[in-house]
Amino acid sequence: MSEDLFPSKLALGAQFCNRVIERKALADNIAKARHTVLVSPRRYGKSSLAHQVMSELKLPFASIDLFLAYDDKTVTQRLLGGISRAVSEILPPGEKAFKKVQALFSKFKISLGLGLFQIELMQDAGDLDAVDQIYSALTALADLASQEKKKIIIYIDEFQDITSAKSAKSIQGAIRHVAQETSALVFLFSGSNRHLLVEMFDDKSMPLYMLCDKLYLERMHSADYRPHLQSLADKMWKKKLSEPVFNKLMSLTELHPFYVNLLCHTFWKGAFPGVKEVEQCWHQCMEEESRRIRAEIEKLTRNQQDLLKALALCSTEEPTGQAFSARSGLSVSSLHQAFKVLSDQDVIFRVKQEDECVPFLQKNHARILDPLMAYYLKQYA
Ligand SMILES: Nc1ncnc2c1ncn2[C@@H]1O[C@H](COP(=O)(O)OP(=O)(O)OP(=O)(O)O)[C@@H](O)[C@H]1O
Ligand SMILES: [Mg+2]
Repeated sequence: MSEDLFPSKLALGAQFCNRVIERKALADNIAKARHTVLVSPRRYGKSSLAHQVMSELKLPFASIDLFLAYDDKTVTQRLLGGISRAVSEILPPGEKAFKKVQALFSKFKISLGLGLFQIELMQDAGDLDAVDQIYSALTALADLASQEKKKIIIYIDEFQDITSAKSAKSIQGAIRHVAQETSALVFLFSGSNRHLLVEMFDDKSMPLYMLCDKLYLERMHSADYRPHLQSLADKMWKKKLSEPVFNKLMSLTELHPFYVNLLCHTFWKGAFPGVKEVEQCWHQCMEEESRRIRAEIEKLTRNQQDLLKALALCSTEEPTGQAFSARSGLSVSSLHQAFKVLSDQDVIFRVKQEDECVPFLQKNHARILDPLMAYYLKQYA
């Protein structure tokens, strides 16, 4: 079977599992032209959800990834790239369409290649005024959408990377301006640094303060994974996984979407698995990822490492209490400090929902967010 059933990147179409409530919430927001920011710790499925909903709605969209877009020029170019793709989706290429685009995007150089519009900065633009360019390109796109009676989704991923650009605040101001003026463009933001991203929308001093609804993504339930995985098992082995195998899969990965895929990808190619094979594959995942996990742990302070080691052995509702202080060998004040930093950095999380297949996930207990890191640390704790 050459199909990638369990991708390490975007999960789409048959690879995509559940998220029924979130898909509906996002689709409703888009219908009402309410801008949304997707929030979750890393690798829970923000980008997959956004792409899945955009493809289901079949609306034109500008998908813009600001990964490492640390300066004004790169930010402007990436936004223009997304806007060009959205324009190409709306207008079938032709002389009339070309003239229309030229008239609307009069500040830009327009070209047409392989049936797609390219909207680029003028060669002789001189000193780039990123804010002006972005504002006028977004306004032109909104005008085009209104003329064509279309709604366009502008999806900006890794949005927090914009904060390093010189004009970051003014660019966000320009986006706010357009977002508030039109209902033809619906903005959807997400990013892999939860802390920075949320700050951009929750901090009163920031231009995008209170612009968006927030949609929080948690881990999925085993009940949501069951039909998805059993149907893929049926496709692969012509039979269903046994309950002990399914439970083992859910408990080793602790329902973390990235790790469910990583583990399934590892054993979904061989013979029909038993519990032992699943455990062996998880161990193999740990060995393959051990360099990265080690590097992540090495970046932490000694106190933070000690807290993690203690948590790997035993989760707790009171990670800063006396009992855990005795267990970890750290003072209560050191625990407070380390716990705050590790929670802010999404290294630790508090369990929000319990699950029948993973009984050790107890509500409100503090745990290591990365189940493979927890498994790795257990060997050294
Ligand atoms: N609904 C889903 N069904 C199946 N797999 C999923 C789903 N959502 C996410 N995944 C898997 O989880 C992993 C992370 O997905 P994705 O890249 O969409 O997350 P993200 O939150 O955008 O990550 P990052 O924080 O790194 O940007 C990928 O392996 C993806 O295939
Ligand atoms: Mg992402």
